[in-house]
Amino acid sequence: MEIREESRENWGTRAGFILAAVGSAVGLGNLWGFPYKLYSFGGGAFLIPYVFALIAIGIPMMILEFSLGHITQRAAPDAFGRLNRKFEVVGWWAIILSFVIMTYYPVILAYCFSFLWYSLKGAFLKQALPWAGAGIEGVKNANDFFYNQFLGYHQDLTLGALQPSLILPLALTWLAAYLCTFKGTKHVGRVVLLTVPLPWIMLLILTVRGMTLPGSAHGLAFYLNPDWSELAEPTTWRYAFGQVFFSLSLAFGVMITYASFLHRKSDLNNNAAIVGLADLATSFIAGLAVFSTLGAMSFASQQAGNPIPVTEVVAGGPGLTFVAFPYALAQLPAAPWFSILFFVTLVTLGIDSAFSISESVLAAIVDKTGWKRSIVLPSIMLIGFLIGLVFITQGGLNWLGIIDGFINGTWGIAFIGCLECLILGWLYRIDRLRLHAND
Ligand code: PHE
Repeated sequence: MEIREESRENWGTRAGFILAAVGSAVGLGNLWGFPYKLYSFGGGAFLIPYVFALIAIGIPMMILEFSLGHITQRAAPDAFGRLNRKFEVVGWWAIILSFVIMTYYPVILAYCFSFLWYSLKGAFLKQALPWAGAGIEGVKNANDFFYNQFLGYHQDLTLGALQPSLILPLALTWLAAYLCTFKGTKHVGRVVLLTVPLPWIMLLILTVRGMTLPGSAHGLAFYLNPDWSELAEPTTWRYAFGQVFFSLSLAFGVMITYASFLHRKSDLNNNAAIVGLADLATSFIAGLAVFSTLGAMSFASQQAGNPIPVTEVVAGGPGLTFVAFPYALAQLPAAPWFSILFFVTLVTLGIDSAFSISESVLAAIVDKTGWKRSIVLPSIMLIGFLIGLVFITQGGLNWLGIIDGFINGTWGIAFIGCLECLILGWLYRIDRLRLHAND
């Protein structure tokens, strides 16, 4: 296949690209997904299938996606289409997955914006944090606040009423994503100079704080003392592979698209390794922060004469990050300030992933149709916002769980991941891509 020499937007610098790729990979999945999956599938034991999946398939697939995007200089559908017309559909399936994530990922960010707002009110108006409370009270409050007051959550699948207080945060999320991306790739390369390092620093502070809370060792023991029997469960392995794909933003067209904006002379292999390892490190540290905090929560309940084991401190699920962390933050001196920093962290952590997803959808449409970026971008974002409203209804969290399960399930990333491997590895000549990558 010929290498196209047409002028295409590019990242400006190598760091711009690496940071943008890391920014896409490192996201809410590291903090909201990883500890929660780890927690449900055997604690520390989950690290084994996870690291295995990362090395066996995560990093190699990323090299593959980088090479494909780089060699074709096209977003996913066209990139596959250039190999063979028939493969284009695979690229579109990846874009559909991106689109699905694009509707619910910002909803989690909207939660973060709201919690940030409460923290700001706490700091500047001296109002108590609504989830605050000491000991067992705090544990109860944090749960009650998130599920009952904040989400107005009900357990069945009917949607119920829209939570009006979440509409504005959702709109804000989309606006922020728009502002970061509308000027194009070079600008994104600069935005990530801030949105990548900032959450890391904050995460470290939180880990240290979590580990110095009384009782944290208890939670860490759960993290590091694994339940080995989970390793015998195929589901554990499937989730580990799914999480690797999700966390590295693979099989969504994102990395193909991002690499398509790379300079002709770029180091693909090392970049892929850097992104993969940075993502793993972030997930692991997020796990430390979450589990030390869970330990402290459990300890607090014990002190109050009402012991709750680590496994039951919070209901598993997406709520983990919005119950365990808010609780821990409320225990800190100058709690509202810490909360502000923490939720700014989450927002900066997630926003670069959110816009990478829209970028993948956007670039696919623009490459295909030649329509103007300035029109397509706001249009898809508006559609994403409108569909996102479904998830901020009373039953929305259940739907979010189901859709997330679909993405991580058989017909989601696993399917596309396998197809990509089959096509690039067998049907197309992998040696070309290998030569290209090694070049
Ligand atoms: N990798 C991101 C995270 O871990 C999520 C994501 C998935 C981003 C797919 C882009 C595409 O949160």
